[in-house]
Formats: sequence, structure tokens, C-alpha cells
Amino acid sequence: MTYKVLVSDPVSEEGLNILKEAPQVQVDIQTGLNEQELAGIIGQYDALIVRSGTQVTASIIERADRLKVIGRAGVGVDNIDLPSATAKGIMVVNAPDGNTISTAEHTFSMLMALARRIPQAYLKLKQHVWDRKSFVGVELNKKTLGIIGLGRIGTEVAKRAKAFNMTVMAYDPYLTPEKAEKLGIQYGQLTDVLATADFITVHTPLLKETRHMISHDQFRQMKDGVYILNCARGGIIDEDALYEAITNGKVAGAALDVFEEEPATHHRLLELDQVIATPHLGASTEEAQKNVAIDVCHEVLNALEGQPVKNA
Ligand code: NAD
Ligand code: MLT
Repeated sequence: MTYKVLVSDPVSEEGLNILKEAPQVQVDIQTGLNEQELAGIIGQYDALIVRSGTQVTASIIERADRLKVIGRAGVGVDNIDLPSATAKGIMVVNAPDGNTISTAEHTFSMLMALARRIPQAYLKLKQHVWDRKSFVGVELNKKTLGIIGLGRIGTEVAKRAKAFNMTVMAYDPYLTPEKAEKLGIQYGQLTDVLATADFITVHTPLLKETRHMISHDQFRQMKDGVYILNCARGGIIDEDALYEAITNGKVAGAALDVFEEEPATHHRLLELDQVIATPHLGASTEEAQKNVAIDVCHEVLNALEGQPVKNA
């Protein structure tokens, strides 16, 4: 029996070798397919491996008559229509651990760049302008970092913030005062974090409950001059509300790695000088891409062979 595996986003070779070396597996790599093209060929495959680029929609899943498993080389499975996959008996597996450190480090890089306006100053200097007056920043020292979603990445961000002598206050429905104390951080409800923090970073998954969880009402509850970061998922923060909060002066700056619609090359938030951004690079390190590819390819192989999987 040969299993056909389609890889529709760039996935690291170290992981794919696991599948290529399995005698019963045939791997096809076809990236950049649109929805119609993917729907047209998906019926030939037993497994599909994606990153965040491929939207695995209901209409693709409807045509996936042989598909047994969808592997996500990364954490978020919000680009996969889970109810449709479940209804068709298709397992969805991810790689939840492999990019935690890279994404936490990216978030911290964004935090420092935001506080010191490094991207804005860099752009000016590249235009041959030696401007020292426009780029007076703020220190992280003794400031409060509010973390919404204290899972794997949020926890690693908290550790780094403490090393910078920041006070950390986190909100997560699964966080208890005891766990917060153990981590040396403050426990808060969402309203406490919103009212207290100088910098707010979100690290929840994108779910029905977290979509636009930071919107007009939440911005109103924040301190004047707050800084906002989103290196989790576009859509957790309501982009229209963020735009308004920046232009009315409530928010001093925002750092965004993710957008509600990607690619986001012409987003109006990018027109604002207070916004710094990267094109969904949180997990884009050699280490993270190797880790998630290895993890997801092991999981897909196990699923095809009827072996137990860890991250379904
Ligand atoms: P995780 O599951 O370890 O942590 C998520 C945390 O969010 C959990 O502790 C959960 O309890 C909490 N949460 C859920 N609903 C909440 C709510 N309503 N309010 C507050 N907290 C809530 O996941 P993780 O590995 O830390 O990753 C978090 C997210 O980051 C992923 O779902 C993914 O979308 C995103 N991500 C982005 C990149 C990137 O490249 N920018 C890379 C990796 C992950
Ligand atoms: C994830 O959820 O793991 C991220 O989106 C990282 C990625 O795949 O780029």
C-alpha cells in the first residue's frame, strides 16, 4: 500500500526526509496552489501537510475522498476547516512545541523595536537623514507588560520580560493565582491587564471567543499611550479599532506580525508611522522550521500507519 502525501506550503527538508525515507510513502510538493487547484487534486492524496499559507476550506475537504490526515507544520490550525475535517473523519495534527522559542524571541524583538522606534529610525537613516530628535523612545525597565494568553509562547515572553525588569501581569482562563506566583508574575482578569499595562501582547489562539477580543471597548479601558503587540493571529485584535485607537492618540504604537488577511501588503495600518510590522515571521527561524517539520511529519506518518499520535 502506497500513501500519497501532498505538501502544499514550504516545509523544511529535514522533516520531509522522514516521509521520503518511508518506503510506503510518496511525497508530492506543490506550493502556491489556489483553492480551485488544490480542490482539483486533493482527491488523490492520503495526507496533506500545510503551514499557514494554505487555507484548507470546506470545499477542498469535500473533494478529499482519500484524505486520512492533515498535518499543520506549526501551532495554529485556524487555516483548516476543523468541523468539515471532523465530519469527514479526517484527523488534524499539528506541531505545537517546535516554534515556541522562535515566536517568543520574535515578540521580544518587536517589543524592543517598538519601544525604541528602531524600524522608523532605520528607514530615515537609509534615506540619508541623520535625525536624532524624532526617535526618543521609552524604557522597558519598570514598565508593566500585559500578556493575554499565557500558554507556551506567552510564558516564554514573560520570562524574557522579567529579565528586563518588567512587571508582568497575565490573563488566561487557565491561569491560577498559584501558577502566576510560581512564575513570579501577577495574575489578573482581562480588565485588570487592560487597565494596568504599559505594553500589551496577545498570545491566544484565534477562536470564536478570541476573535476581536481586543476591540473599541477594550482600547477605551487601556492607559493612554499604551503599546500593543500581536505576534499570534490576525483577528484577535480588531484592526479597525486599533486604527482608530492609534489615530486618536490612545495607542502610542503597535507591532504586528500577523493580519486578519494575509498577505497584507497594502493594509492601512501600515501607512501609520506608529505601526511596525513583519510579514508573519514569528516562526521563521531555521531551528523552528526544522522542529515543526520533523514533528508534523512523524505525526502524519503515525496517523497513516494507524499508530498513536500526540497532537491530534
Ligand atoms: P498555547 O496553546 O500554548 O497557548 C495559548 C493560550 O491561550 C492558552 O494558555 C489558552 O488557555 C489561552 N487562551 C485561550 N483562550 C483565551 C482567552 N479567551 N483569553 C485569554 N487566554 C486564552 O499556544 P502557543 O504555542 O502559545 O501559541 C499561541 C498562538 O500563537 C497560536 O495559536 C498561533 O495562532 C500563534 N502563533 C503565531 C506564530 C507566528 O508566526 N506569529 C507562531 C506560533 C504561534
Ligand atoms: C503557527 O501557528 O505556528 C504560526 O502561524 C507559524 C507559521 O506557521 O508560520
